[in-house]
Amino acid sequence: METRPTSLATPTITKPIHRNWAEVDLGALKYNIEQIRATLPASFTIFCVVKSDAYGHGMIPVSQALREAGITHLAVANVHEGAVLRQSGFTGMILILGPLLKEEDPFLIRYELTPIVSSLAEVKRFEALEKHNPLPVQVKLDTGMARTGALVKDAAKLIKSVQASPTLELTGIATHYSSARTDAEYTQMQRSCFLSFLASLKDVDTDKLLIHTDNSQSIIRLPQDPPMNAVRLGLLCYGHPESVTIHEKAIQLKPVLSLHSRILSFKDLPPGSSIGYHRAHILKDHSRIALVSCGYGDGIPANLSYGGYVLVRGQRAPVCGLVGMDIFAVNITDIPGVKPGDPVTLIGTQGEETITLNDFCEHSGRGYREVSCLLTQRVPRLYA
Ligand SMILES: Cc1ncc(COP(=O)(O)O)c(C=O)c1O
Repeated sequence: METRPTSLATPTITKPIHRNWAEVDLGALKYNIEQIRATLPASFTIFCVVKSDAYGHGMIPVSQALREAGITHLAVANVHEGAVLRQSGFTGMILILGPLLKEEDPFLIRYELTPIVSSLAEVKRFEALEKHNPLPVQVKLDTGMARTGALVKDAAKLIKSVQASPTLELTGIATHYSSARTDAEYTQMQRSCFLSFLASLKDVDTDKLLIHTDNSQSIIRLPQDPPMNAVRLGLLCYGHPESVTIHEKAIQLKPVLSLHSRILSFKDLPPGSSIGYHRAHILKDHSRIALVSCGYGDGIPANLSYGGYVLVRGQRAPVCGLVGMDIFAVNITDIPGVKPGDPVTLIGTQGEETITLNDFCEHSGRGYREVSCLLTQRVPRLYA
């Protein structure tokens, strides 16, 4: 099968013209890491989760900033992401959170990546890889997520098989919560299950391993006591939610991503005019309707059509009609002085007004991680 370049860069446009852009504040990212780190025991290892292009923020610039903030452990979803990180010069541990396809296995060795195993079959596969040094691996338990991880009844045998292998090195034991934000009781059940499994293990010195269960939502909610000694940190380091209390320390995080576009044009329309496809919005009054230069082709959720708004000249402009692939309409009747080319903010601050990621998610019906992951390559990430 043929592969083709995916870049949209055109050689004829030498000066970038930004119709849409996401500003990624790496200073805010580093600030967030400092704040979160201060709430955790000093000895804790922080795995920063940078999969899916660092949740759409840009894996390489983000990982470089994380390194400057003292982060030595990163987590990704597959060997390709791990290889890109390694090639960028990252020398710390790179944990692959998800299961691997068999043909990905050799790249574990080539790029010194650490997989998490859930089955004896994976242990056999990784043992068989040609290598000079033992391959570090971690073991994952399924305590109630029912995706990856060994069932608790099988986990002791799995751990023994890794320990017994001359070509593998056990470096950690982990589990993952299914409902840390929404179901405290279930999360506690998972936690207790993990802890009692660890307590039942013989011949395993957990002090010498990385023991981790927590993502952002459980970091906020659960105590960080031994045998836990590491966390897997994603959303919080990207600044969401902005105000959190972690182990009785209230901290304020800074949003890392803001999202902007431009006004293309506007016109004055009489009552009864229908805006855009499928006549989804009919004007009740004389209105000034402006076109914003982005749509679902840029990753703007189509659902923003219902109740969403953007900021223009520091004021709220409601979305009218459906979000199209390249443009959508907003009502600027009450905003004087708007001109074509004016900046539009979809997430972030203009003057006194702010649209938080939370607001944007509420208006678009999308999850926090989805919003940044969905932004397409038509939205350049600009780093501050
Ligand atoms: C296994 C695992 N751990 C940790 C995280 C980080 O989660 P969060 O972004 O909530 O911190 C993820 C993210 O999807 C994950 O898949």
